[in-house]
Amino acid sequence: MSTRVSLFYFSLAYVLCFGDASFFGIPKLCLCRCGLVQTERQGILFRKTADVPSQFPWVVTINTGNRVVQGSLLTDQHIITAAEPVYGVPITNLTVNLGVYDRCRGYSALNSDVSEVTINPSYAPANLNNNLALIKLRYPVTFSDSISPVCLPYYGLQEYDQVCWTASWALSSANASTCIPRVATVPTLPAAGCYHGTNDDTVTQDKACFVPLGAGSILCNIDIGAPVLWRFSSSFPYRLVGVISSSTTCEDTKTPLYTRVIDHITWIRDVIQSDCNCI
Ligand SMILES: *[C@@H]1O[C@H](CO)[C@@H](O)[C@H](O)[C@H]1NC(C)=O
Ligand SMILES: *[C@@H]1O[C@H](CO)[C@@H](O)[C@H](O)[C@H]1NC(C)=O
Repeated sequence: MSTRVSLFYFSLAYVLCFGDASFFGIPKLCLCRCGLVQTERQGILFRKTADVPSQFPWVVTINTGNRVVQGSLLTDQHIITAAEPVYGVPITNLTVNLGVYDRCRGYSALNSDVSEVTINPSYAPANLNNNLALIKLRYPVTFSDSISPVCLPYYGLQEYDQVCWTASWALSSANASTCIPRVATVPTLPAAGCYHGTNDDTVTQDKACFVPLGAGSILCNIDIGAPVLWRFSSSFPYRLVGVISSSTTCEDTKTPLYTRVIDHITWIRDVIQSDCNCI
């Protein structure tokens, strides 16, 4: 079978499985996998701390000129992060570091300029409702062990009231951990539960949060834009179920809130449609 024909069947299978075609047109597909971590690709036992480079190869850092926040690679050209840190920032101020492992040493595999920032059209700065932005890299990246995308969630995936993963350069109170990304597993609550526990006006309908509420010490210094990840089991890929909406420190008793990605999936798919989408 020629490449063209097998690609056709491949795309057809994708469309049949995911049902995207009727709503969004057929996304450009590439023969690559999303949501897989390097250790698993190599068949090594999965470890809970990111003690190998690029365990979560979709995690990127975004420098705005004033601060450094996190994001996740969705395709070969788009990063998702929170809207708040990039809202009103000129694109000439923004750089994205991909394939970063040790942030203290300034090492990065790839430094990319930005060609466009798409703020969620319903973003509300006052209460951080719809706090998401999509950042387009100037040039498409080539995927590798240290740079590869995360999968998007699907309808019906309910990640809250379950345990999720998050990765950040500053999860632990131990100072050493701020250089190297750490992975934590945390239980999550839906918006109603988060609001009940916090009475915080930024708990909008599209949010969920980590528990225990008000116990800031478990997750220290979570960066804005960091991913909240979920997977069905260890043989399934990671899906990006949330994007951290506000930063917290060990001293805060504020619980980290995240924006639920599934609530914005139509907008996201629309923006990234012509990129290279892995399956
Ligand atoms: C852009 O970056 C410069 C530093 O390079 C910073 O002083 C300035 O505040 C930034 N602008 C915005 C809007 O963040
Ligand atoms: C972390 O660093 C601060 C300031 O440098 C220091 O006071 C504190 O004791 C350090 N904490 C740990 C756990 O090493």
